[in-house]
Amino acid sequence: MDITEVILNDHHEQRRMFGMLEEISPDDAEALGSVWKRLRILLEVHAAAEEKLFYPRLLKLQKDRIAQESPDEETEDAVHDHNEIRDAVAAVDEHPVGSVEWLRAVAEVNEVNGDHMAEEERQGLTDFRRHVDREERHAMAVAFAAFEAEHAGGIPAHDVDPQQYLRENS
Ligand SMILES: [Fe+2]
Ligand SMILES: [Fe+2]
Repeated sequence: MDITEVILNDHHEQRRMFGMLEEISPDDAEALGSVWKRLRILLEVHAAAEEKLFYPRLLKLQKDRIAQESPDEETEDAVHDHNEIRDAVAAVDEHPVGSVEWLRAVAEVNEVNGDHMAEEERQGLTDFRRHVDREERHAMAVAFAAFEAEHAGGIPAHDVDPQQYLRENS
């Protein structure tokens, strides 16, 4: 197992589920609501797992080895993006499932999440592949998978102050 693979697979799953929502008829509120509920849980638990396990290690990595290559902003940006995703997710539930407003709100989550995943894949995952050895990536993958399994039913979502996060994890 490898933490970069586990994260990448989660990203694929999220993309796949946004694709599913696009293929379900807007009239089928039951199916849309069920798939969205699952995707919402995946997004929330994935971000929480990254904040608990992935980004603290990335911060340490940056301190130890690659400060010049990737400054602190990478983690700060990620926490900021996670907040943006959480807010966009919360906005979806303000509208009736399947309505034009609901579909638009889901598309907004897809957009902010898509941008964030692309950045994370280019930056954080690349840093890990280059600088964290296989054994540690394996151990982190186990912890990540266990965290996600423990919270498979969902996790309360709340925004995280990026500055405070950096202070607490540096
Ligand atoms: Fe993320
Ligand atoms: Fe991610």
